Amino acid sequence: MQTTVMGRIVGYDDRGEGTPVVLIHGYPLNRMIWEAQWEGLADHARIIAPDLRGFGESEMVAGIPTEITTYADDVRELLDALGISEPAIIAGLSMGGYVALAYLRRYPEHVAALILANTKATADSLEGKAGRDKSITLAQTKGAAGIAEGMLPKVLSPKTYTSNPELVAQVNRIMQSATVPGIIGALTAMRDRPDSTGTLLEFSQSTLIIAGADDQLMSAADQENMKQAARNSTLVTIPDAGHLSPMEQPEAFNKAVAEFLRSMG
Ligand code: MLT
Repeated sequence: MQTTVMGRIVGYDDRGEGTPVVLIHGYPLNRMIWEAQWEGLADHARIIAPDLRGFGESEMVAGIPTEITTYADDVRELLDALGISEPAIIAGLSMGGYVALAYLRRYPEHVAALILANTKATADSLEGKAGRDKSITLAQTKGAAGIAEGMLPKVLSPKTYTSNPELVAQVNRIMQSATVPGIIGALTAMRDRPDSTGTLLEFSQSTLIIAGADDQLMSAADQENMKQAARNSTLVTIPDAGHLSPMEQPEAFNKAVAEFLRSMG
């Protein structure tokens, strides 16, 4: 569905009842990566999945520089528009995790718990920042298709990539639907985001960290760093999952989240 928030069209899904769980997608994706979660988890909680600006059905705002906090503010404004003022469980995959941590920094009183999937708390290295600039040039010259071509083999585990052509095609479609301004905004925001390890160190509420055993983009050390920083955290590593664990192993992903929700009562 769509709504207008602060004059901007925002695509989102809102299913189920109870504690709000906000699912924030990664780059260059959209809320469709959570299809199996809103179907599998809406019996346990109220699942809200927004499209970040420039992705899915959410409008990009031209001429405004995008920072990681821009997306966090967008999430807060959507929740306000939906009348959700109580603390929510904020969940993010990869770039969605960077946004979740920015949201925690800005709106700590609105966070009941965190779910950090296939992500990391650290900032980009100098090499990583240079890679973002190359990707911006690629997006400008080859569009979303050029970005998707390079990323597709990296976001899925080698096993998923060779054995699940339907999922490969679905992820490709999602990536190719991203807008170039949306891609450039996200690359800029990720390049310039700060290290969030200190934010996690200050967080005392429950944190679920979900890793893919075969994630080619996030290392085991990234996961261990978050586990050490978040004092009340649990790390679940999903076998046979790459970077897109909620799509590659939806049952295992949903089980980990449902158990986490139960543990919080
Ligand atoms: C993502 O999946 O959101 C991105 O690959 C994260 C990143 O590039 O740092």
